[in-house]
Amino acid sequence: MRIPPAVIEEIKFRNDIESVVSSYVNLKPAGSNLIGLCPFHSEKTPSFTVFKNTQTCYCFGCGSGGDVVTFIMKMENLDYVGALEFLAKRVGLTIPRDQADENNRIRSARILEMNKCAAKFFHAALLSPDGKEALAYLQKRKFSPALIKHFGLGYSPNSFNALMSHLKANGFTEKEMVSGFLCGISKKTGKPFDLFRNRVMIPIIDPKGDVIAFGGRVLDDSLPKYLNSSDTPVFKKSKNLFALNYARKNCADRIILCEGYMDVIALHGAGFSNAVATLGTAITPEQARIMERYTKSVVIAYDSDEAGQRAADKAFKLLGEVGLDVKILKMTGAKDPDEYIKTYGPERFRRLLDDSKTHFDFKLDAILAKYDVSVIPEKLKAINEITDIISHINSAVERDVYIGRISQMLEVSRDSLTYDINKKIKKQNKEQQKNESRKIMLQSAGYGDRINPDYAKNVRASSAEESILSIILTYPELLQKIKKGDYKLLPEDFFTSFGKRVFEKALELTTDGTYFDYGILGSEFTADEMGRITAIVLKRNNLSQNGEKELTDCIAVLKNEKNKQSATLEDIINAKRNEKK
Ligand code: UTP
Ligand code: MN
Repeated sequence: MRIPPAVIEEIKFRNDIESVVSSYVNLKPAGSNLIGLCPFHSEKTPSFTVFKNTQTCYCFGCGSGGDVVTFIMKMENLDYVGALEFLAKRVGLTIPRDQADENNRIRSARILEMNKCAAKFFHAALLSPDGKEALAYLQKRKFSPALIKHFGLGYSPNSFNALMSHLKANGFTEKEMVSGFLCGISKKTGKPFDLFRNRVMIPIIDPKGDVIAFGGRVLDDSLPKYLNSSDTPVFKKSKNLFALNYARKNCADRIILCEGYMDVIALHGAGFSNAVATLGTAITPEQARIMERYTKSVVIAYDSDEAGQRAADKAFKLLGEVGLDVKILKMTGAKDPDEYIKTYGPERFRRLLDDSKTHFDFKLDAILAKYDVSVIPEKLKAINEITDIISHINSAVERDVYIGRISQMLEVSRDSLTYDINKKIKKQNKEQQKNESRKIMLQSAGYGDRINPDYAKNVRASSAEESILSIILTYPELLQKIKKGDYKLLPEDFFTSFGKRVFEKALELTTDGTYFDYGILGSEFTADEMGRITAIVLKRNNLSQNGEKELTDCIAVLKNEKNKQSATLEDIINAKRNEKK
């Protein structure tokens, strides 16, 4: 879908970058700009800068940046059009839709309708004679008829075309079934077949109430245990949470995050209707941000085995980064919440929830279990590890609370603990600054450059090229002149293919007139590429103001370097020829 430039301009005009970024980042004034901790990488000293006069932002630590649209693309994981829609909605604008876009919307609506039809079919099959075994399996797992109905659980018959025939009879096409991940195409025969067979079916329903996907579990120990819908036009597994449609109404205070579908269903059955789960993958930053929109705190209730606890550690970090208060639930005597509730009952689980520990306590327990603190050398080792953990806590108040507790518990003075911890913090800050500046140095030298891998091959040419781009993206009138042929600069003259692409797109997207906002390149480049383009434009701030002279100079350098390069290529060919002679 192509949005008219005038509409983009209006959306950007109404979404001031400062107010948009402020809802994600705590910004403080720094000169005429604003700075804050970068939301795209973890840092302790702010390097994320918002430039009010150009309405752009840039992180000098990780290179993310662009205009307000790029910021939202990266922050909300949306494509260019999605980000514009998001921003339009934010200020109450509607974007006029064109035909192609309308067709897409209709296609998605069809898949949702088909999913609903399939969910009804699976549910009916579970209660039919065909579903006897599946129903018995669910009863064995103590899922009541009411719970089965609440979650709309079902059964996919043990047949290659039961669902297909049903959907066909209801007017859905094979193409729709394949794109909705209900049918596959056999490689051998080229014929379609039902993907979900002989499984307990779990519909995945989004907060709007649409059936967006399915998970299916085998009835025995065969593998794979679960089959899940792949991503489809209506489903991205990294951006959804199972049972959020029910949990959203009861989770303002707390969400229980589980690993599996069955844990969530069992928890809801036992009265914990604030449980959700990821969809067969480790938790993603998007999912963390979704939770942050619905609740203040999350209790992680992952499997009690080692893999589960390692996953919990990772989830803890991600959830903490979006500002949630996170705790980890520790279960003994059961593998997962589902088993725990079945063995010990909901009351004991509620106690576990209330006793669930902060990450600090969780780690403290592990340290105290490892060392015998009545022996001095061991006590010192324990204290060293504990001060390490406290030194990584960002909030000074929180650190103070823990210092008080540890001081009492291990009988050491608050002052000496504080002294050691502050020393560690200083050391970490230094190291982090060193790392950050090292990264910036390497980046500007073109090493490890994933966005423009050609850069390092000829730094002189690449750098001249970047100067040219920064000039034409800053001075629209020069871009216009180039377009008219005034400078004899062609895409072929560019050295790196990234630079060439930026140049081509800028020429293509500039309209007559003196106005050009490079943010419009966001429709052709990824958010990371936009960060790089922003960096290129920013370089301009440190250069001379005589754009035209510099442009001529840089074009000369670029062409000269390109000539040298082709000359060397010729030399090589000539040398080879001579060899043969
Ligand atoms: P578990 O094996 O812990 O699931 O996997 P569970 O829900 O406790 O299953 P039961 O109790 O044995 O029925 C956790 C989650 O990992 C995903 C599923 O989302 C599951 O809920 N998973 C697991 C898969 O996607 N595929 C698999 O083969 C296994
Ligand atoms: Mn389980």
